[in-house]
Amino acid sequence: MIVLGIETSCDETSVGVVADGVVRSNIIASQQVHGEYGGVVPEVASREHERILAHVTESALQTAEVSLSDIDGIAVTAGPGLMGSLLVGVSFGKGLAFRNGLPIISVNHIEAHLLANFIDNPGLTYPFLCLLVSGGHTQIIRVDAFGGYRMLGTTIDDAAGEAFDKVARLLDLGYPGGPYVDKYARDGDPGAYDFPRGLIDSGDLNFSFSGLKTAVFYTIAPMDEETRRRQIPDLCASFQAAVIDSLVTKIQQAVDRTGITNVTIAGGVAANSRLRQQMNELSEQLEGQVFYPAFEYCTDNGAMIAYAGWMAFRHDRPANIHFTAEPRLSISST
Ligand code: KG4
Ligand code: ZN
Repeated sequence: MIVLGIETSCDETSVGVVADGVVRSNIIASQQVHGEYGGVVPEVASREHERILAHVTESALQTAEVSLSDIDGIAVTAGPGLMGSLLVGVSFGKGLAFRNGLPIISVNHIEAHLLANFIDNPGLTYPFLCLLVSGGHTQIIRVDAFGGYRMLGTTIDDAAGEAFDKVARLLDLGYPGGPYVDKYARDGDPGAYDFPRGLIDSGDLNFSFSGLKTAVFYTIAPMDEETRRRQIPDLCASFQAAVIDSLVTKIQQAVDRTGITNVTIAGGVAANSRLRQQMNELSEQLEGQVFYPAFEYCTDNGAMIAYAGWMAFRHDRPANIHFTAEPRLSISST
């Protein structure tokens, strides 16, 4: 079965093709226009999606060496995300499905992130834990089966990716901030500044990152321009260490509580080099294994939507054109 997946929930316009569980194309157009504003401008994002979605779709079909007549089903992100951006993908997908007489299935973006772990990891088996860390979400999810998800913990304020973006903005590094912080941190000392690890001893599996962001703000506030510039690597390394410590500590606690030893990570922050390295170290202590998606399937992408759609079709989840964009869709509603 060949599935075309459409992703427009935020600022990536992306379309992918998956044939029998194998990714045949994954075209990602990241909207550069938001860089000058230091964050995503929703109205601009939906206009950009509208402008390029048809071209990105064409290019995904070409790269996969298929035409629309070869496609068996369409999958589209219904939420969570920005209302206007989601609506562009949902309307486009429905139009494509209707015109070509194809079944269409709505995909939960969070579910697609966590299922992306299966793309290159045939060894991954249920049950497993997923640390889902993106620009909008930070959650620990227990995955017992396809469609069997339970959220064990979440952030009570900022998402991890959001914290990376906000700190990058304080330091004038560029947007999105995660990759910049990751890059500068390589030349810095993670122990240079003692930043707080929010809720680390809270006794539950929740996260908090807003205190950390505030601590970075008050640390750099008294610095002159030159000192701040020189301190960027140490500030990035220390901030990143605090975020990753919180994430890894909580996932370790989740393993201890549930007895589930297969662990996955997903979402844009799963591309972070320190998180990947610390998860590797954790895997040496676990009985099970640690999995993470290839880089291109960590940040928002159409292939993960096509893959989640392919799995949904395979599990006979009913196709239904009567769905709408749901900006606040959660994993528990899947
Ligand atoms: O999953 P994603 O593409 O979009 C959402 O669904 O939110 O995640 C985007 C987030 C951004 O906050 C970005 O700064 C962060 O992922 N990110 C990273 C890295 N690459 C992307 N954060 C830390 N380190 C990275 N290497
Ligand atoms: Zn995402």
